[in-house]
Amino acid sequence: MSDKLIVVGGGGGFIGGHLVADLRRRGFKEIRSIDIKPVDEWYQVFDDVENVVADLKLLENCRTACEDAAEVYNLAADMGGMGFIEANKAACMLSVLISTHMLMAAREAGTVQRFFYSSSACVYNAEKQKDEHVTPLKEEDAYPALPEDGYGWEKLFSERMCRHFREDFGLEARVARFHNVYGPEGTWEGGREKAPAAICRKVIEAKVSGKHTIEIWGDGKQTRSFMYIDDCLTGIDKIAHGDILEPINLGSDELVTINQLVDIVEDIAGIKLQRQYNLDAPKGVNGRNSDNTRIEELLGWSPNIRLRDGMEQTYAWIYDQYVSKYGTKAVGA
Ligand code: NAD
Ligand code: GDD
Repeated sequence: MSDKLIVVGGGGGFIGGHLVADLRRRGFKEIRSIDIKPVDEWYQVFDDVENVVADLKLLENCRTACEDAAEVYNLAADMGGMGFIEANKAACMLSVLISTHMLMAAREAGTVQRFFYSSSACVYNAEKQKDEHVTPLKEEDAYPALPEDGYGWEKLFSERMCRHFREDFGLEARVARFHNVYGPEGTWEGGREKAPAAICRKVIEAKVSGKHTIEIWGDGKQTRSFMYIDDCLTGIDKIAHGDILEPINLGSDELVTINQLVDIVEDIAGIKLQRQYNLDAPKGVNGRNSDNTRIEELLGWSPNIRLRDGMEQTYAWIYDQYVSKYGTKAVGA
């Protein structure tokens, strides 16, 4: 198994970078990692991996990427947290070119035994996410379709395309619906960051600057569950190599309000901040949680790393990044 060629699309990104690192740890020797960003912007780079800079929106690049591959993991997408996806709907939908061309190329390669696609909880019907006291989302709640505008429609379409490539062409595609994933070695500033990293950065900014206030998007009462990267990697491996043919939730079911997320980060940082709520900022759905009944039934496992534990690792990494980039001076100060 370890000599088979494994291809990771989006390997310069957060989850793709961790996946490459994990594959190496597990003894895979032939790994090809592809990303559109220059290599010096990748979160994790390994010299013994074939690192390729290419735009996977283009079919010919996908063909080169998938050549001789035994397994393909497509984690490449133009994406981010609510601040990015609400303001870049067309860009998010253009990831359909990556999804389509990677599927076509994997099929054409003729060597691909497993194809993994990272879908999102953003495929779920918005009507089911209006209340912060949300009923956890089951897989069937994606239909009738009313996903997140832009990004969610692309994900729903692409996961459907995986299904039909499997049914019509025999490509062994597997799909997981990730719920908000966090951890070290990911985006923590610049506009694409999600709430866990953004809150860490804001708390660090407040601590370092001595200006003890924090801006929170929305009223802080909206709810989410957050999955630590190690759980995500475990789930990717199990789902990619298992027999679950329909898209399945891969997320934590530890529901918290955004205020509770801030409490956790304040506690880790040993600080209390004055909260300012920006009700005009991108908010997304009021509540979202993962129903893990199916994954527990089918795999006997579900993500289980406690938010507090994962946030300690995440905060420590972002703190180091922040201090090495800005010193102990506030951004813009
Ligand atoms: P990320 O932005 O860190 O990684 C995605 C990578 O894809 C980036 O490095 C980016 O440069 C690359 N990419 C974008 N366009 C490309 C192109 N045309 N050609 C080649 N590479 C391209 O995001 P992530 O958090 O690592 O997410 C990985 C996957 O998981 C994505 O498909 C994302 O939609 C999905 N997902 C992530 C989350 C989450 O919370 N992180 C939640 C749901 C779904
Ligand atoms: N990003 C961010 N930054 N969000 C904040 C902030 C902040 O400073 N302060 C509060 N929030 C709130 C947002 O308003 C939103 O209500 C909630 O925290 C979660 O925001 P995000 O983490 O940005 O995104 P999301 O959970 O709505 O959606 C994410 O998860 C999906 C999968 O579950 C996105 O990353 C999607 O791309 C992803 O597919």
